[in-house]
Amino acid sequence: MVPTAIKVPSPVREALGRRAHRLSGFASSLLWFDRVSSTNDVAEQLAAAGAEHGTVVVAEDQERGRGRQGRTWFSPAGSGLYVSVVLRPEELRLARGPESLAAASSVTLAAGVALAEALRTSTGLPVEIKWPNDLVVGGRKLCGVLAEASAAVGGLQHVVLGFGINVLPAAFPIELSDRATSIEAELGHAVDPAEVLAEGLACLAERTRAFASGGLGTILDRCRELSPSSSGASVEVAAPHGWYAGTTAGLDRDGALLVRLADNGEIHRVIAGEVRWH
Ligand code: BTN
Repeated sequence: MVPTAIKVPSPVREALGRRAHRLSGFASSLLWFDRVSSTNDVAEQLAAAGAEHGTVVVAEDQERGRGRQGRTWFSPAGSGLYVSVVLRPEELRLARGPESLAAASSVTLAAGVALAEALRTSTGLPVEIKWPNDLVVGGRKLCGVLAEASAAVGGLQHVVLGFGINVLPAAFPIELSDRATSIEAELGHAVDPAEVLAEGLACLAERTRAFASGGLGTILDRCRELSPSSSGASVEVAAPHGWYAGTTAGLDRDGALLVRLADNGEIHRVIAGEVRWH
């Protein structure tokens, strides 16, 4: 059962109102909660019940926020932005066939670009993308994206795109402090989270619309610019028999990360697997 939504804070309504011309219907349905298990779960329930493209779920607190690869996303009350958006394949111009699931993963690249640009605009921080869509400042993670696709016999039904932004240092535990950061820790002063959220949703609306009309080509060059670590960085990539050392060698036309393996110089394409960065 979907929990009961509370009133959307007026600074958020106002910040969205100032960007209405960029939102293309995104956040016309915006549900705000004080506490949920995970905003992705709530958005998934709403999507399964027919929620429209661009429906947004925000919570002030998540009991079971989750990240990629089964990790936990620390979500203490009021310390971060915890947001999920329902995306419909027909609005993204993704076919519903089996190939659409792979195409859905490229939507997450578009989301990384959109959120990096939004954070740069709303905070002035030099946010970069660590492939595929971790957003980092000075190598420390500020924002993570978790896209979950729902498929049925007919193919892709919808995608729930969740993102978490660390606003206050309390958004992550002390043991992650060498790997995580927050907007306020970087800036040394407070920010208006309503502005960050509204700019994030406006950039997402714009980038997903561009993706729908022009495909991944519309964002790949920007993605390369924003992710300097996708070329020349030392990494290890997961393969069936262990981890292989290599050096990143750019992004392929479909958004895959290219890695030159140290062993034999061959180029390995990483599509969705885990990458360890050094
Ligand atoms: C990652 O970097 O591992 C992805 C983190 C995604 C966290 C967000 S917070 C809002 C949404 N709800 C969740 O449970 N996870 C995503």
